[in-house]
Amino acid sequence: MHRQRQLGNTGKQVTVIGLGAMPLSLDTRPDETTAIEVITAFIEGGGNFIDTANVYCIDDNDVGHNEHLIHKALAKLGKLDDIIVATKGGLRRPKGGWDTDASPKWLRASCEKSLKDLNAECIFLYQLHAPDPNVPLMESVGELARLKLEGKIKHIGLSNVNTREIRVALSVTQILSVQNRCNVLEKKSFKNGVVELCAREGIVFIPHSPVGGHFDHVKLATNKNIKKIADKHGVSVYQIALAWLLHKGEHILPIPGASKVSSITDSLKAVNVELDQDDLYMLDQL
Ligand SMILES: NC(=O)c1ccc[n+]([C@@H]2O[C@H](COP(=O)([O-])OP(=O)(O)OC[C@H]3O[C@@H](n4cnc5c(N)ncnc54)[C@H](OP(=O)(O)O)[C@@H]3O)[C@@H](O)[C@H]2O)c1
Repeated sequence: MHRQRQLGNTGKQVTVIGLGAMPLSLDTRPDETTAIEVITAFIEGGGNFIDTANVYCIDDNDVGHNEHLIHKALAKLGKLDDIIVATKGGLRRPKGGWDTDASPKWLRASCEKSLKDLNAECIFLYQLHAPDPNVPLMESVGELARLKLEGKIKHIGLSNVNTREIRVALSVTQILSVQNRCNVLEKKSFKNGVVELCAREGIVFIPHSPVGGHFDHVKLATNKNIKKIADKHGVSVYQIALAWLLHKGEHILPIPGASKVSSITDSLKAVNVELDQDDLYMLDQL
């Protein structure tokens, strides 16, 4: 299996396992030294795609924490030009909650703040964090298209969307990526046609929470069937979950989260796991 793939039609090569940086900034976050060690371990392990969001933080007073941290780590490593950073806008964190606000005004303000927190002139991939039930999707995506025209962002992505919403967005502008919750125990994006539509349209599919998510990764870790396959290959259950996603399509780019160096170091090894037909059959049934 190739360790690198084309990132859509951007001309960029991307390593097939990205880093989901969210656990480095929520209220359970590690200290800053450890957080920078996690990012460093990912890059030294060959990774070059980091997923973030303005709202990976504790609450509204802390917005931009994760972007600021990533910039600090990349600057320290001298890697600002080498690593692809994808961020998002369209949520708010009032008192630590998660509210949707994908109004054009908030998206523009968020993007401009992200440019400052990432210390960038242009954001390589800017993703709509989630459609807003109170704002027509065409308006949210239309604002992102305007930000692209103005040179503030280079490519547009979507997150937490269904096939209808992807088609609506495609009628407005080009879409580079779709990021949905997806893992071997949660296959909605396979069942509802999102993964297939992305493949057909040349869109990169980014499974978020690829080993189960911030809380639910424990479910995956204790699944007996996954454990059996992991034991057979002599690898962790997390590597099996990530390898399953990688076997599902050349356009799939999982972004496992990590707040420990050992987690991301382990996840990166998933590229070496070759699942056989029996493994894939069993994992498909879960
Ligand atoms: N677009 C959205 O709405 C959305 C929503 C959620 C997440 N995301 C993105 O998706 C990324 C991934 O999601 P996530 O971080 O929630 O969940 P995840 O990737 O399923 O990971 C959850 C936890 O599993 C542990 N883990 C992962 N790989 C491991 C390994 N190889 N060995 C041991 N433990 C391992 C990590 O624990 P430790 O912390 O102990 O290292 C990690 O924090 C996020 O970081 C974020 O960038 C996006």
